[in-house]
Amino acid sequence: MQLPVHNESGTPFNNGFPRDFFWGAATASYQVEGGIENNDWAQAARDGKVPVCDRSTNHFELFEKDFDIAQNLAHNAHRFSIEWSRVEPDEGKFDLEAIGHYKAVLAALKVRGITPLVTLWHFTQPIWFSNQGGFHHKKGPETFARYCEFVAEQLQGQVEYIITINEPLVWASAGYLKGKWPPFGMNPFSFLKVVTQLIRAHNLSYEKIKAVSPDFNVGIAKHNIYFFSNTHIWNKKAANFMSWFWNRRFLEGIKKHQDFIGLNFYFAKRFGKKISTVKSDMGWDIFPEGIYHTLMELKHYGKPVIITENGIADHADILRGSFIRDSLTFVKKALNEGVDVKGYFYWSLLDNYEWSFGFTERFGLVEVDYQTLERVVRPSALIYKEIILHGL
Ligand code: BGC
Repeated sequence: MQLPVHNESGTPFNNGFPRDFFWGAATASYQVEGGIENNDWAQAARDGKVPVCDRSTNHFELFEKDFDIAQNLAHNAHRFSIEWSRVEPDEGKFDLEAIGHYKAVLAALKVRGITPLVTLWHFTQPIWFSNQGGFHHKKGPETFARYCEFVAEQLQGQVEYIITINEPLVWASAGYLKGKWPPFGMNPFSFLKVVTQLIRAHNLSYEKIKAVSPDFNVGIAKHNIYFFSNTHIWNKKAANFMSWFWNRRFLEGIKKHQDFIGLNFYFAKRFGKKISTVKSDMGWDIFPEGIYHTLMELKHYGKPVIITENGIADHADILRGSFIRDSLTFVKKALNEGVDVKGYFYWSLLDNYEWSFGFTERFGLVEVDYQTLERVVRPSALIYKEIILHGL
């Protein structure tokens, strides 16, 4: 058996992965915290349009216990998000108690030797903001940037890595094109406009955060898809167009305003004959090789890349262990071929509220019993731990 080598900070150093590689998992406020009623998703649940989230996993109160689990699983990093509707419950009024909670979260990570990666906005908008038209409204980006600036001022010194926006295109297409998520729009022009507004929101926020301290490393978490095709000319053109439209266009718009690229990888799409693979519980293709191609596509930006999400729903936990191993094998291949990958965050640490699917889907390394709130570590979490400690 290969023994782990430790660097000065005690982080295991694995063959083939950089010695300070971030190993961890990700969560998002509304999906795990519980008790959030002042955002557009809670409002939509009250209107009967999406499932109720209610107390969820109660991570808001149980975070220390959850971080004990992460620490026992050898995680040295953790990605979580701040709930905007808690921190700014009314326009321009910031709640110091709410920000105090997140300071306690950061302190709890620190004592466990876990580096935080903080997302400032993961899909849910304060009700007052969505009532104004949210990001679609012309002052939306400025309003968001002011919130980002406040959080940066408050958390300065406690956090180094900040993600402003999670998956702008996923959110904009579900909310403005497909009518699935708040605000349930189905208009291509609104969709295109809100994407442009999100680019501006990120760029403005980046400037505000960096003005608070240039030491922050700021990026977004970008959902990229591996689009490919057979040799047919029109399929090739379709794959090229989609990789520009979905993967590159937004990144081009923020390229002067990002210190790293956060990559959320879930999907591969082949034009021509479809991929035929084993499917996750969500019916998604399991195609770990896609992460390698997607990483290679990011190489030309010349920025460090952090894999901020990658995971599958697998309630029986029969596919997850090999999914993680295979995905990391392809991450290592990209590393060997010169992509500066800094870390890997499995989605998710815990089972949680999977948006319009509610609590039916199980993405967690840790199983949650929603009746008792009991946590049970899944076998795949131990496979991931083995990889963290001893390599692939
Ligand atoms: C999102 C998460 C979501 C996960 C699984 C990502 O699109 O950032 O919030 O739970 O994928 O669908």
